[in-house]
Amino acid sequence: MHSAPREPGSPVPGPQIGGPAAAKSPVVGREHEVELLEAALDSGAHVVLEGPPGTGKTTLLRAVAHHAEVPFVFVEGNAELTPARLIGHFDPALVLDRGYRPETFVDGPLAQALRSGALLYVEEVNRIPEETLNVLLTVMSEGELHVPRLGCVVAAPEFRFVAAMNPFDAVGTARISSAIYDRVCRISMGYQTAADEETVVVLRAPRVPEPWRAKVVELVRATREHGEIRVGSSVRGAIDMVRLSTSLARRRAVDVTEWRVGLDAAVVALSGRIRLQESCSRSAETVVQELYEKAFGSTPERPEGGDAPGGA
Ligand SMILES: Nc1ncnc2c1ncn2[C@@H]1O[C@H](COP(=O)(O)OP(=O)(O)OP(=O)(O)O)[C@@H](O)[C@H]1O
Ligand SMILES: [Mg+2]
Repeated sequence: MHSAPREPGSPVPGPQIGGPAAAKSPVVGREHEVELLEAALDSGAHVVLEGPPGTGKTTLLRAVAHHAEVPFVFVEGNAELTPARLIGHFDPALVLDRGYRPETFVDGPLAQALRSGALLYVEEVNRIPEETLNVLLTVMSEGELHVPRLGCVVAAPEFRFVAAMNPFDAVGTARISSAIYDRVCRISMGYQTAADEETVVVLRAPRVPEPWRAKVVELVRATREHGEIRVGSSVRGAIDMVRLSTSLARRRAVDVTEWRVGLDAAVVALSGRIRLQESCSRSAETVVQELYEKAFGSTPERPEGGDAPGGA
């Protein structure tokens, strides 16, 4: 396990803004991506982190923001993220009382980030409505935001925009790509090595025997290579499988490595996470069981209580 490098001297001090932002998250591996991201932000660039779900984009950015001691504003990108929600709005009651004045304006995440020189992180940026995207594009190009009746909010020099995108997410991607890509630097986040994924599981899930955990990670990684699977599971599937096995084993009063505990946990943790090819006529459960048997053997090792477990 490694932490984000801690170089004294580069921090840009500032207040922490609320949200999941400031939590310190140790990053496993990713030294190269951490270096690229820190350099890009230092150079003044806005950045898109592009990679499949669960590849540590949020974890990486939180750690970098924490290390640099910059405020961090987190926004979930979705179809409901209107310009008003992103920028902010005038409080109707205060406006009735005092009129349109700076103090009756409630800053949204973008105004907050611009004023405080924060890292504004928008997840799933390809899902936000076109008009909200246009606001962001303007801010990136001009470094300021014009709000009717409020005036101009100028970006503090430390303001940076970081977007996360998932290349498997078809929603809106084509529409957004050229406009965004022309204004940002791009860091690709692929899946990590098996060893790093095992370390992530150690961090996020209960303690289990190391060889068994390695097989869980092997199974999850195999979902990314299988011909009938279009999108495999991220390391989140391995984390959940270990957590679930632990809890099932406790209920059944058996060892966490018991064959059927693992199979049930694999099916529950992974069958919803994988996306099958259109041409695949089998169920996700069947495909997960096939992969489970490849990793853990096709029949239970000697059953502990005497009774062999029944069929699938
Ligand atoms: N390199 C890593 N170091 C530590 N934890 C990691 C790492 N990669 C993934 N994780 C863990 O895996 C899970 C998913 O990571 P994270 O939320 O950062 O992924 P993401 O790329 O932002 O996913 P999404 O695209 O779905 O938003 C989290 O529980 C996180 O703690
Ligand atoms: Mg994320």
